[in-house]
Amino acid sequence: MSSLILNNDRKQIIQEIAQTYGTPVYVYFADEINERIEKVKSIFEGINILPTFACKSNNNPHIVEHFSRNGFGTDIVSIGEYYVSKKAGVDDQKIVWNGNGKSRHEIEVLSNCVGYVNIDSVEEYERWKEYETDATFFLRVNPDVDPMTHHHISTGLKKNKFGIPVEEIDKILNDKNGPKISGFHVHIGSQIVDVEPFDEALSSVANLSRRYGFSKINIGGGWGIKYEDKELNLEEYKRKIIPHLEGFELVLFELGRYLIAPAGLLVATVQYVKRTSHKTFVVVDAGMNTLIRPAMYDAYHNMIVLTPTEGIAKADVVGPLCESGDLLARDREIQIPKVGSHVVFENVGAYGYSMSSNYNSYPRPAEVLVSENGSKITLIRRRETIDDLFRTIV
Ligand code: LLP
Repeated sequence: MSSLILNNDRKQIIQEIAQTYGTPVYVYFADEINERIEKVKSIFEGINILPTFACKSNNNPHIVEHFSRNGFGTDIVSIGEYYVSKKAGVDDQKIVWNGNGKSRHEIEVLSNCVGYVNIDSVEEYERWKEYETDATFFLRVNPDVDPMTHHHISTGLKKNKFGIPVEEIDKILNDKNGPKISGFHVHIGSQIVDVEPFDEALSSVANLSRRYGFSKINIGGGWGIKYEDKELNLEEYKRKIIPHLEGFELVLFELGRYLIAPAGLLVATVQYVKRTSHKTFVVVDAGMNTLIRPAMYDAYHNMIVLTPTEGIAKADVVGPLCESGDLLARDREIQIPKVGSHVVFENVGAYGYSMSSNYNSYPRPAEVLVSENGSKITLIRRRETIDDLFRTIV
């Protein structure tokens, strides 16, 4: 399944949005979200699932609500994400709480709210003995599988901070003094484009579950999308992974990127085309404060030039921040855009706005949702103002 198709209708909608709400602006297309929801559901056909949306990927309550209306719960990692879920109308029983650093304060606030808790360590299990809760507990297993993705977003290797090594789970399961454990959880990383790591991890954790008599399993997220070349082959995933899930009464999953990344675009305005004797720089009004993935992971986001000039050149597309790492595309062969026109970065619906910051004291951008068939355009988060920068100053 390829990314969102930027046809002329959508280009026009983008121009309108940029004019009305200014730039930089994040734009999401409900049509694309719906298609992805349907695709995911079709992969799990015949299995009793509790689908959850990993709201760290996109924390706009309107987006989360869209998933909630389609039967999704949420995977949360903080009190903030719990309240995002509540604003979006997600039922407590459909909320899964993840994280390796659950503080006492967080446990006090959330223990009687969330439906599921994934315990990340023996030490966390010990802490839970001090609290009363009706939540259903899973153990996050670290299966020591290489997801073959960027090292920052790999989580299922022994050297990563997440999960309990298989040889240590008996310490918990032989202990009868703590919360009852109902299943295993496994999440080996994000943007995984090969089926093999999923196969290895899930066959091992599904077998482990059967050995311990667990009828529920949480298989995490991590499906890789097509940023530049490869994406996860979902037909192969269905063929190889779904059979591991046979016989489970309930399968939970936590997808973020696959569901929302391709539905989101970032629209920016070209400020300068700077040509030095060494290089061409296209300077836009979005930077690493708006979209940090290229600077942080060297991630590729395709850029579409809406109003090109005649020229084609290899250029760096950079933001306005005072830092050389502030770039959105490196050494990219592009049609040089007209100054003042708009450019569009693709696949930014996940880990785009949710990782944005106020670095260099820029207010954060607005977010806009385009409903089915482009029939309605809704501002779902206003642009921050200068006053917002000082909201927390005492
Ligand atoms: N479940 C757990 C326990 C997770 O830690 C994550 C993501 C997910 C589910 C959702 O994974 P997804 O389906 O979105 O791959 N900021 C990085 C990605 C960090 C992922 C963190 N955990 C990026 O921009 O690539």
